[in-house]
Amino acid sequence: MTVCLRMLSGMGMTKQDNLFSDPKDSVADFSFDAMVADVFPDMLRRSIPGYENIISMLGVLARGYAKNNTCVYDLGCSLGAATLSVHRHTRDLSLQHICVDNSAAMIQRCQSKLKRHMPASSVELICDDIQNIQIKNASVVLLNFTLQFLPPKTRLSLLETIYQGLEEGGVLILSEKLIFSDQGVNQQFIDWHHEFKRANGYSDLEISQKRMAIENVMIPDTLATHKQRLAEAGFSQTQQWFQAFNFSSLVALK
Ligand SMILES: C[S@@+](CC[C@H](N)C(=O)[O-])C[C@H]1O[C@@H](n2cnc3c(N)ncnc32)[C@H](O)[C@@H]1O
Repeated sequence: MTVCLRMLSGMGMTKQDNLFSDPKDSVADFSFDAMVADVFPDMLRRSIPGYENIISMLGVLARGYAKNNTCVYDLGCSLGAATLSVHRHTRDLSLQHICVDNSAAMIQRCQSKLKRHMPASSVELICDDIQNIQIKNASVVLLNFTLQFLPPKTRLSLLETIYQGLEEGGVLILSEKLIFSDQGVNQQFIDWHHEFKRANGYSDLEISQKRMAIENVMIPDTLATHKQRLAEAGFSQTQQWFQAFNFSSLVALK
């Protein structure tokens, strides 16, 4: 396995993701362990069309909703990229940032990154299931590519908890991979996404082994399902503000 370092904007040096480059006899389910955490910035950038755009626009969007002396929750924070973007765009030291992830490897790396880049901010890092977290006094909640990893039956309950913990006028920013109800359309989007990955240097073997690893772990929904579930949870207005191939982001207002 070769190790290659790349410079990513605002993220420093990061290792190249080649976790799926060697043929495997059997492909284990994907998990957010230390090996994944070490290459995660590169994996996200080369796997999610528009990831860097989404991250910087999350900060731009959050700026309009983050209120003094309230909490900003980053649920499934990984290495804290979304929290960092909110901080860069708000520069509000009265905000309490609460970053939650159930991967110890992610939380450890997130802690040192946020200490380095936002030392004067109030940040609480919690290593736990996001379903165990109480949401209080929130003006912004970020679920950036995390809801899709929860069992589908539990997703509404999490959105209800978020809705109840948001202040009036608060916002949930929800980014997810999408599926499409028409099979032909769905396949077209999958093919485009795989082209995107090939263009970013992933081989067909890497693409197919990663797909096998993730298919039991990440269960995407249609856009209609997301909109309906958000309405059921109480959100008065939902706007899709971003889509690149089968990756999308929504803003839901309380
Ligand atoms: C695709 S990554 C999220 C990327 C990150 N939000 C960003 O913007 O860079 C999904 C993250 O959610 C975490 N995760 C998945 N299920 C979780 C759960 N039930 N509770 C807490 N964290 C979870 C994973 O450990 C992983 O770090």
